[in-house]
Amino acid sequence: MKVPTCGRAAGKVILLGEHAVVYGRPGLAAGIGRFLTAEVSAEAGAARLETDRAELAADGRPARLLTEAARMLGLPDDGLVIRVRSELPAGVGLGSSAALAVAVLRALAAAAERTLTAAEELAMGTRLEAIFHGHPSGIDPAAAALGTCLRFVRGEPPAITAVRPSAPLRLTIAFHERPRRTSSLVTALRQRWEADRARHERLFDEIGALVDAGARAVADGDIRTLGSAFDRNQALLSELGVSSPEVEALVGSARRAGAFGAKLTGGGGGGAIIAVGGEPERLAAALAATGACTIVTEVGA
Ligand code: PMV
Repeated sequence: MKVPTCGRAAGKVILLGEHAVVYGRPGLAAGIGRFLTAEVSAEAGAARLETDRAELAADGRPARLLTEAARMLGLPDDGLVIRVRSELPAGVGLGSSAALAVAVLRALAAAAERTLTAAEELAMGTRLEAIFHGHPSGIDPAAAALGTCLRFVRGEPPAITAVRPSAPLRLTIAFHERPRRTSSLVTALRQRWEADRARHERLFDEIGALVDAGARAVADGDIRTLGSAFDRNQALLSELGVSSPEVEALVGSARRAGAFGAKLTGGGGGGAIIAVGGEPERLAAALAATGACTIVTEVGA
């Protein structure tokens, strides 16, 4: 084993299509230029993961991820130490668990002196993401691995198409640092889908159509149309029962501050929102004034 080695992966936003993407509809995601880095070294003792983020340290799942990733790559898990540095808040829907999975895979693959193909990285990343929630579509590891703007349809292998913005696409992200679990939201939605499939399939179809309209708007640099797609997607996510009063308050503040559209991003039930249009720095200031943390980012650059 060759150590020390390092792996890095991107955080992401889902621009359109979260949850429906689990049920086979397309989703649109993009890297956000904030990264998580995993450094592997060898020290005597049981495998352990050290991190600068308290939320991750308090959670038993990253340690399981480390053991499973080592097993996938044929490495002994004894004596492995992984140090994680992250620019991503955990548990708010900005892809920190997928970034952790992909960064750890990259660092361990380098330690095993292997180069993973993109297809291997996505397949393994999706299997590791299942430690965090039971039915991952794979969109998060795809965005973490590629870091660009992409249209994604689940499958083995998934269908991934690059979407290149014709003009810089600037987004405002806002969240409160109160982690929630995507797994609970995905599981609860699955129970509601089981109880009334026809209604949910109709909502998923409408979301799928918005993803394609939104992908065209991104490629055309038409942020007004993208903003309308955000608003409609947010209304549909609310009908699916994955929004929350905190999300609605943030989305309302963003719209009042001049956003062309705003919606939750990721699992929902709290967590981050994204807004497009208006003046991003002004939106961020208005959202920060309500007590939220904010990020202004350019996606797909
Ligand atoms: O892990 P999060 O909160 O970014 O959400 C992932 C997106 C979902 O569509 C809710 C789940 C999935 O696996 O696609």
